Amino acid sequence: MHYFGYKNGELYCEEVPVKKIIEEVGTPVYIYSAKTIRRHYKVFEESFSEVEHLICYSVKANSNIAIISLLRQLGSGADVVSAGELKRALKAGVPPKKIVFSGVGKTPEEIEFALSVDILMFNVESLEELEVLGEIAKKLNKKAPFALRINPDVDPQTHPYISTGLKKSKFGIPEEFAISAYKKAKKNPYLQPVGIDAHIGSQITSLAPFVEALNRLKKIWEALIDLGFELKYLDIGGGLGIIYDDEEPPLPQEYADAIIKEGKDLKATIILEPGRVIVGNAGILVTKVLYTKENTLKKFVIVDAGMNDLIRPAFYQAYHKIVPVEEKNSEYEVVDVVGPICENSDFFAKDRKLPKLQRGDFLAIMSAGAYGFVMSSNYNSRPRVPEVLVDGDTYYIIRRRETIEDLLALESIPARYL
Ligand code: LLP
Repeated sequence: MHYFGYKNGELYCEEVPVKKIIEEVGTPVYIYSAKTIRRHYKVFEESFSEVEHLICYSVKANSNIAIISLLRQLGSGADVVSAGELKRALKAGVPPKKIVFSGVGKTPEEIEFALSVDILMFNVESLEELEVLGEIAKKLNKKAPFALRINPDVDPQTHPYISTGLKKSKFGIPEEFAISAYKKAKKNPYLQPVGIDAHIGSQITSLAPFVEALNRLKKIWEALIDLGFELKYLDIGGGLGIIYDDEEPPLPQEYADAIIKEGKDLKATIILEPGRVIVGNAGILVTKVLYTKENTLKKFVIVDAGMNDLIRPAFYQAYHKIVPVEEKNSEYEVVDVVGPICENSDFFAKDRKLPKLQRGDFLAIMSAGAYGFVMSSNYNSRPRVPEVLVDGDTYYIIRRRETIEDLLALESIPARYL
């Protein structure tokens, strides 16, 4: 569900013609719909209304501070994985007591920073990290609230790069170490076990893996309660999939019902870390056709956005729907939509049926709101593109286009090479 659609043959984001935005800021550009984000958040949030819960939007999906701020206005907390994301969340006004800190490789400096601002909890991913957390808490004379991230060894049946709950993956702590780690932590006056956590992967389109993971957590939770632990937070991560093409992911209410059914009797506050499901379909990447060409095998449409701007097709062979900004009546042809970068993997679509395109046409690459801009890079010395947020009939430039001077400003030539 999203608020991008055609009116009189022209693509609109809410009440703003996409053309109007590109006339001002040019292409490529990311455009987000505030109304779509609000709707997704509200639907997700209301699905859990039956139980105590806290939504910690997973900032990595789209970390623009305007987007975090918009979600904070709706009551969202934040799931962060670096000092950078934590600073973004704080800058967007997210109360520290609504922030959880995940990630396998938190540095001592990041831990110290998060402890000093009193976040809700650390999702600890290794026994050594737990030790370091205890040491830093002692130094600051604080009690560090934490949950252990359990690796439940569940196959989420998604792309291997985003399957994080399998034993062979680097994430979390094996179930069999969990209880002894909690027991050890209990003896440390600077550590406070407050919950338990798992995140099994992303773009998950069936309920079974979530239920299975939750069942594993439940067993550990119950064992800990029997041992006298006072736990409050059951964090089941993010991962709910969205429709890019013909996927049929569970509705948020179905997802919530399955989790509530399994988790209700624990009397926990359930923490959710959704990312993609909130912002994925709320964003598009708009690009211009630079050239078309063909050889005896293929037709190519060469656009001004590249894999450095949206890496998902190159990286995960991900499908993104592509539509023209101005509806076309031309006949269809089968083309590859490719970027300007010197790599074969620089494509947005392969053998895609699209209306015949020509130089100067604009295309919208759909469902680019999650893991789009945040994964972009300056490869081939391409400045990163602007981000625009539409709200009703208004739009705001929430990140300006980088300039080549911005890129060069970070570098210097040592005198001996002058
Ligand atoms: N919590 C943790 C600990 C995570 O690692 C992630 C995502 C989330 C929550 C949010 O998951 P979501 O609800 O968005 O599925 N770049 C990949 C996705 C990587 C996901 C990484 N972790 C992509 O473009 O598909």
